[in-house]
Amino acid sequence: MAAGAGTLAGASAAAQLDPNKLAKFVDPLPIPPPVRSRSTRVAPDRPGKQVPYYRIEMTEIQSPLHRDLPPARLWTYGGSFPGPTFTARSGEGLLVEWANQLPNRHFLPIDHHLHGAEANRPEVRAVVHVHGAKVPPQSDGYPEEWITPGKSLTYYYPNQQEAALLWYHDHAMGINRLNIYAGMAGLYIVRDSFEDGLNLPSGGYEIPLVICDRFLKTDGQLDYPVSGMPDAPWVPEVFGNVMLVNGKAFPYLDVQPRKYRFRILNASNGRFYNLTLSNRERFQQIGTDQGLLPAPLALEMITLAPGERADVVLDFSSHAGEQMILANETFQLMQFRVGRARVQDTSALPTALRPVPRMEEASAVETRILSIDELKNAVGDTITMLLNNTPWHMPVTEKPVLNSTEIWAILNPTEDSHPIHIHLVRFQILDRRRYDPFTYTTTGKIRFTGPVEPPEPGESGWKDTVRVHAGMITRIIMKFEGYPGRYVWHCHVLEHEDNEMMRPYEIVKPA
Ligand code: C2O
Ligand code: CU
Repeated sequence: MAAGAGTLAGASAAAQLDPNKLAKFVDPLPIPPPVRSRSTRVAPDRPGKQVPYYRIEMTEIQSPLHRDLPPARLWTYGGSFPGPTFTARSGEGLLVEWANQLPNRHFLPIDHHLHGAEANRPEVRAVVHVHGAKVPPQSDGYPEEWITPGKSLTYYYPNQQEAALLWYHDHAMGINRLNIYAGMAGLYIVRDSFEDGLNLPSGGYEIPLVICDRFLKTDGQLDYPVSGMPDAPWVPEVFGNVMLVNGKAFPYLDVQPRKYRFRILNASNGRFYNLTLSNRERFQQIGTDQGLLPAPLALEMITLAPGERADVVLDFSSHAGEQMILANETFQLMQFRVGRARVQDTSALPTALRPVPRMEEASAVETRILSIDELKNAVGDTITMLLNNTPWHMPVTEKPVLNSTEIWAILNPTEDSHPIHIHLVRFQILDRRRYDPFTYTTTGKIRFTGPVEPPEPGESGWKDTVRVHAGMITRIIMKFEGYPGRYVWHCHVLEHEDNEMMRPYEIVKPA
């Protein structure tokens, strides 16, 4: 454990790294390894049926984030960052034993003022949530169900859902921004026969791109910013100086002149991305958070908030021998090096993908008006973020009935866009509309100040995370299918989530 030794709580004396000083495109893009099946066990919901059983250990490792940097201290699932990739078949369950084998001390700055992270709690706590998974509540990774080093939790994932790119990450109350920042995230792909039938690029031609930013120091270590108040180090947002793809800064990928499918995840704490390709080349977006779109969309830019995913096809066939850059605005994320040798490409990009039947507003039995709130102190610093002005520990207020459809109209009077994620369900975005927050706070009335805006084309499939824009009311519609019980909904800006921008909700059985 050389590189981290002698430094306390991430307080290394090294200076901030200047990313422009790092050599570009010298590391090959790492591909997270597949999980290995350890054994099989009986499925909890189907006596007699054996399902795969995996054991994933959360461990500290030392691994460089760039060829020319010393190894960074990272907390991982299964020893890699991102963690190993699960591949599940729709309708076929699997069991995972998540084992906390982390050290007893955290290396990033805990704020003991935050609910759930008080000084009398163990420093190192972890619980895993598979983002976008339709799972029973006892396997969803409830934020208060954390475990300490030496303990493990076994969760069952029934995978009764359509093909989609899900991801797993830490969800421990009050510190999940730190655990995820330390490296605790990985991919969970659900496949099904409908998608198989489309003959999209697969195998070595289907590549995950997990994008996240971090502050790096010249000694190669992660640095998590602090407020300057020693007792209250929480900061409302983190925008790192380096953006990583699959855990490397400025990687390159050798590709053949043919079609590839890229499964893109924004795993950042707070950064939104506007992804573009050099030469204004276009992405063919084929899917959103929860699966395929009805038809491919040619887009010059893909926007992803934290937690969102985009499924895209890139066709390099007319770029043999060229190099292409994937960028976020002016920051070059990675390079594609297209080979010269002509290859046969038998994969397809069908013009019709998967029907996404529009959910009818009339099918909703309830419309909930919910707000996003920021509390500021006397000097204007944000001190707490809330959903519906209600802290986490207050009694549950959202209790949808199992199998009922609801519309949630989320009001955002703040100055920032917040990516709101609801566990268990998939939803559709109905619309967004500008309104006057002042009228609402003073009279409780909604006064619209702009036209109804439909979802962007790239958001018009099944979603589980939605950008709720400043000064707008964003409406989503969803059916609470699956399981009765306690789940959560929250902002996916992890700093917000850890500071009260998360609420429990409960699916109740029909009376
Ligand atoms: Cu991706 Cu509740 O989280
Ligand atoms: Cu937020």
